[in-house]
This record gives sequence, structure tokens and C-alpha cells, in this order.
Amino acid sequence: MQKIILAILLGLSGTAFSAEETFPKDCAACHNISGPAAQTLKEAFGKKGPDLFYAGNKYRQEWLAAWLQKPKRIRPAGMYYGNHIKPGAKSDEIDASTLAEHVALPKADATAIAAWLMKLKPHDDLIAKEKIEPGTITKQMGEMNFDKFQGCMACHLIEPEYGGVSGPELYTAARRLQPEYMASYIRNPQAWEPKSWMPNKQVSDGGIQKLVRYLELLGKDSENAK
Ligand code: HEC
Ligand code: HEC
Repeated sequence: MQKIILAILLGLSGTAFSAEETFPKDCAACHNISGPAAQTLKEAFGKKGPDLFYAGNKYRQEWLAAWLQKPKRIRPAGMYYGNHIKPGAKSDEIDASTLAEHVALPKADATAIAAWLMKLKPHDDLIAKEKIEPGTITKQMGEMNFDKFQGCMACHLIEPEYGGVSGPELYTAARRLQPEYMASYIRNPQAWEPKSWMPNKQVSDGGIQKLVRYLELLGKDSENAK
């Protein structure tokens, strides 16, 4: 009954469909929206898109709504880089021809789906364990820590085309992600995704604060704005 009323309301406001009904059908072909996370390597390798079933614990709503209207690549080499790498002159290169563009949505649909996704919060317990302390870090110190001390640079870009490509780019992370999520994922990637390729680096509480501060700084850098 509620769904029918919603459909009528959305119909009157000119929206093509109701997020509740369309999301699972169209998007669930590639995204896990009901959990649990992949429990085996086979399942993890087979993922066609990132898990969205904890979207409300992870994303910034305004970013979600904007990105869904104008998606731009986040994982330079796709979901599993092994499927999108070809031998190059000096080293392996990304084979962009194997990467598909993401579907873009009209504004009303993007806004409705973003609001719907933000209600998915099965991991409030993990988020509640994180507290972001105020503080500052210079870009230079932050980068040294990220690269040399913690070894994060092997898998993540900290500028367009600077860093590793097997993980999501991180110079946009602060615009996409809630700070508590970043802290929690760095603390224990496997708590979110048991088969994550990101190693648990046993970063100390202080080290996590420094990394999150650095990612927040990168997110504010206008040179990286896109
Ligand atoms: C053909 C498979 C496919 C379909 C269908 C699809 N997606 Fe995606 N989606 C992806 C892939 C792959 C990525 C990762 C993109 C990247 O990293 O550049 C992604 C990324 C996303 C992200 C960003 C998440 C993140 O952490 O990077 C959101 C949000 C999203 N999709 C929502 C949707 C919605 C909503 C729909 C339905 C309208 C949809 N997707 C349909 C494959 C798909
Ligand atoms: C061996 C490669 C590897 C290393 C080393 C690594 N990561 Fe990751 N990281 C990944 C992958 C793969 C993901 C998640 C993949 C996905 O969701 O598609 C990830 C996810 C993340 C996320 C969440 C991003 C998002 O968009 O969901 C953050 C934040 C992050 N890593 C920070 C770090 C930090 C800080 C370090 C160093 C302490 C680090 N990573 C080391 C591979 C790595």
C-alpha cells in the first residue's frame, strides 16, 4: 500500500520511478544491497560493483546524489585490477577498453536513490567505535606517513596518476566517504569485507587519526577537485 502511494506521489512529481522498487531490479545486478559481504575469494573476485548494503555507514549523501548523475571512475583499474591490466612497454598498464562507463541517472532519480541508500546502516556498531579528533597535519608529513611509514601508496592514488591503482583513488575519499568510515576501514578492512585485498596494517589509534587528517586535507585540495 505504501509503495503504491509512493509511486503515485513520485509519478505526480514527474519522477520516472520509485527508488524502492527500481533499485533492486536495475542496480542489484552489479551491487550487493542486502548483505552479507562476500565470504569466499571466489565471490570477492566475482563482484561486479562495490557493496552498497552499508551505504548509509559509508558515503556522504550529497556526493552520492551528485556522482549518480555524473559518475566518474574511482577505481582506476576496475573492481579487480587483474582483469583490466595488460603488459606495457615498461610495466603493466591499465587496459581502459575493458572498463565500462557507469550508468548515469536523472537528478530526481539520483536524489531519491541516494536518500534510499543512506538508510542502509547495518554497521552502526563499527562506526560508533571511531572518534575523529580535531588536529592538523601538513601535506608533506601526511604523504610521508601514507607512503613510507604505512605503505598505503602501493595500492592507492593520492593525486590523479600518482600512486597505486589496485585500490580506489583516495584524493577524492574525503568528498565521498564519512571520516568515521575511513577510520574504521583503515583499522580493520576485514570487519567490512572479510575478503578485502587491503591488508590490516595494525595502524595505531594515533596513526589512524593522522591518515584520516591527511585524506581530509587531500579532499580539500582544489588541484584535485573535479
Ligand atoms: C553493470 C554493472 C553496474 C550496474 C548495473 C550499476 N553499477 Fe554502480 N558500480 C559499478 C561499478 C563497477 C562501480 C565502481 C566504479 C568505479 O570504481 O569507478 C560502481 C560504483 C557505484 C557507486 C559508487 C560506490 C563506490 O564506493 O565506489 C554507486 C553509489 C553506485 N555504483 C550505484 C549504482 C546504482 C544506484 C545503480 C542503478 C541505477 C548502479 N550502480 C548500477 C557497476 C554497476
Ligand atoms: C594491497 C593493496 C592495499 C594497501 C597496501 C592499502 N589498501 Fe586501502 N584499499 C585497498 C582496496 C582493494 C580497497 C577497497 C576495495 C573496494 O571497495 O573496491 C581499499 C579501501 C580503502 C579505503 C576505503 C575507500 C573506499 O572508497 O571505500 C580507505 C580509506 C583505504 N583503503 C585507506 C588505506 C590506507 C590509509 C592504507 C595504508 C595504511 C591502505 N589503504 C593500504 C587496497 C589497499
